[in-house]
Amino acid sequence: MRKRPIIIDTDPGIDDALAIAIALFSEELDVRLITTVAGNVSLENVTLNTLRLLHFFGKDVPVAKGAAKPLIVDFVDASNVHGKTGMEGYDFPEPKEELLLSEHAVNAMRRVIMESPEPVTLVPIATLTNIALLFAMYPEVKKNIREIVMMGGSAGRGNKGVMSEFNIATDPEAAQMVFQSGLPIVMAGLDVGLKALVYPEDSEEIKTMGKVGDMAYHLFKRYRGGSFQTGLKMYDSCAVAYLLCPELFEVAETYVGVELHGSMTAGCTVVDLKGYLHKEPNTKVCIDIDGEKFREWFKDSIRKCV
Ligand code: BDR
Ligand code: CA
Repeated sequence: MRKRPIIIDTDPGIDDALAIAIALFSEELDVRLITTVAGNVSLENVTLNTLRLLHFFGKDVPVAKGAAKPLIVDFVDASNVHGKTGMEGYDFPEPKEELLLSEHAVNAMRRVIMESPEPVTLVPIATLTNIALLFAMYPEVKKNIREIVMMGGSAGRGNKGVMSEFNIATDPEAAQMVFQSGLPIVMAGLDVGLKALVYPEDSEEIKTMGKVGDMAYHLFKRYRGGSFQTGLKMYDSCAVAYLLCPELFEVAETYVGVELHGSMTAGCTVVDLKGYLHKEPNTKVCIDIDGEKFREWFKDSIRKCV
């Protein structure tokens, strides 16, 4: 089978670590590049975390460091959720520094996209600063992008603000640039992320699934995205799940814009499911997920991480 080329843009982050693992060990995906962006924790830390993960997984994928802060707004991290270093709870090996490119993430993405014989899929599972910069600096890349499958946004309420999701609210202007890019976009936001849960009994089972399972188990013990009893939210794995198992999702094609000026709602995605704005659809929004099937898919995917 021909593997689908993807670039992951990420800020590990506990849920990022699991999404990256699943993508790297998948037989259907070819992870050509991983780019990092300040988000859950600082750019330095998310980059070190990515290099640690790759060492741990034994995968030699090039990594490029991207934006250290959002385009306009101040940077506020999520270390309250992911721990100070972003991936606390497990004793990872040293970062594999030789995988770090000297190129900036935006230049590396441009090169990988332009050199690819087949269109590349972008999988941002973090704030969209790098992707917005890519389109602003090198709009020619759009010709060779198949689609953007992102974790971010919400058709309902938020997890960063009342109505705003973390990845979008961290850099709303960048997100708006991406939604206006004219490229096919799939948005796997909180509507599905909040239902993509693993429970304590899953975690016990995952612990027995080799070294990646053992890592997941220990990270889960420190992940404060939700208590173990009510389930841990595997937000970022939803974007990878959409690539590998789209039948888990219910999708609505609609217009999505980002609120930039609301005094209480800045950074929220306005998902116009009823067509009030009379705008052409620009996004396939995942509005629901089969939580039980996701759970099974997630555990099967971790089992394959060997
Ligand atoms: C998103 O925010 C980050 O904290 C997670 O890694 C995920 O990408 C969820 O809102
Ligand atoms: Ca993330």
